[in-house]
Amino acid sequence: MADKGGKAAQLTVDGKTIELPVYSGTVGPDVIDVGKLTSEGYFTYDPGFVSTASCDSLITYIDGDEGVLLHRGYPIEQLAEHSDYLELCYLLLNGELPVKDEKAKFVDTIKHHTMVHEQLVHFFRGFRRDAHPMAIMCGVTGALSAFYHDSLDINNPDHRRITAHRLIAKMPTLAAMSYKYALGQPFIFPRNDLEYAENFLHMMFATPCDDYKVSPVIAKAMDRIFLLHADHEQNASTSTVRMAGSTGANPFACIAAGIAALWGPAHGGANEAVLNMLAEIGDEKNIDKYVKKAKDKDDPFRIMGFGHRVYKNYDPRAKVMQQTCHEVLNELGAEDDPILRMAQRLEKIALEDDYFVEKKLYPNVDFYSGIILKAIGIPTEMFTVIFATGRTPGWIAQWNEMISGPYKIGRPRQLYVGEARRDYVPLKAR
Ligand code: CMC
Repeated sequence: MADKGGKAAQLTVDGKTIELPVYSGTVGPDVIDVGKLTSEGYFTYDPGFVSTASCDSLITYIDGDEGVLLHRGYPIEQLAEHSDYLELCYLLLNGELPVKDEKAKFVDTIKHHTMVHEQLVHFFRGFRRDAHPMAIMCGVTGALSAFYHDSLDINNPDHRRITAHRLIAKMPTLAAMSYKYALGQPFIFPRNDLEYAENFLHMMFATPCDDYKVSPVIAKAMDRIFLLHADHEQNASTSTVRMAGSTGANPFACIAAGIAALWGPAHGGANEAVLNMLAEIGDEKNIDKYVKKAKDKDDPFRIMGFGHRVYKNYDPRAKVMQQTCHEVLNELGAEDDPILRMAQRLEKIALEDDYFVEKKLYPNVDFYSGIILKAIGIPTEMFTVIFATGRTPGWIAQWNEMISGPYKIGRPRQLYVGEARRDYVPLKAR
């Protein structure tokens, strides 16, 4: 809990000093509570929320200078090595690691909610076959609210729990369906005898004519990709989920809003953008030209998969992902793939270049996840869908945390720089 005793900051404006309380978290920088500024006639101004804490949270902590990511206190490296995705889902939702029986029960619950209502198939049929799968995901996730009237009371903790389970369980099914739909192949039912990531790969790649044998290395890599994306405190999509949730909207609608926010190339869309960028570069001999473009202030081109708003040292998820990347490439004998070679060379050049070093631009999680997913055979358009699937427990845990405590509707203000009051001019007189 935040330490709300004692410290204060003073802000002097126009000769008047306003006292503002300062709170300390468990770890991390102190925050100045500016809530009462409005009654003094001022707003704070912080476009992009670079200096703004929007809530208290017990879920995830990031130290961007030190490259630290903790979920409920546990370092991401330890979770990636010793835990698994569903255990992390439990931890994010419940605050503590499960004991053996709790884990078995949770896994069993998730496995038994993986099917979607048959009527949902008709929603898919309404989309063009060439629709981007993220467009489908925004639509069908929001549409789930039409199927679960039995559990839409956001003030009922049991309703919130069942909704969290349904979302975590059904997201891989919807994701795989959005892929099968584009291919024109029949949807593949989930199999409850398979593990979470294994089952996702099965629904993606099996057909009614052929079973799909999932390699344990690939299944582990897929589980790790989900795990490394599970939560990331108040990023753009999570803040969108909280903002939508603060109006009292139902959780399926809120998660659909999060999916929409994730889609952009500056956020979850970056993993897809990395592969598109590598395709555009085309050949190792063009890398220098593109690095130069990225450094040119007048050119909007950026090296996708590089840089992060919070991490200014390294992205700890990228370190784990890099190791998984080598395991997967080795298993698939794909170390020599020209795209992958190009990615490695680009990474090396950018890491040594003064521009990237000075601006503290390091490869982020999306740089390597895209490479792994490509090697597994996942089509590029599905990359962000996989990010969305992995991020679902984070979104729902953060939404649940907000709804369980006192909260206000999210309603930022602005610095208005438009016209001051003026009188309407009739059409004839303009
Ligand atoms: N390539 C070239 N220059 C860059 C890059 C890049 N990838 N990223 C940032 N810069 C430069 C930028 O031009 C700016 O330069 P200057 O100070 O001279 O104007 C400086 O570095 C700071 O950039 P910014 O855009 O002000 O930083 P930000 O914190 O607002 O943006 C970011 C962070 C992730 C949006 C940005 O680094 C970026 O666009 N990266 C590429 C997209 C990407 O990989 N996104 C995935 C993020 S990780 C997954 C997730 O959590 O969603």
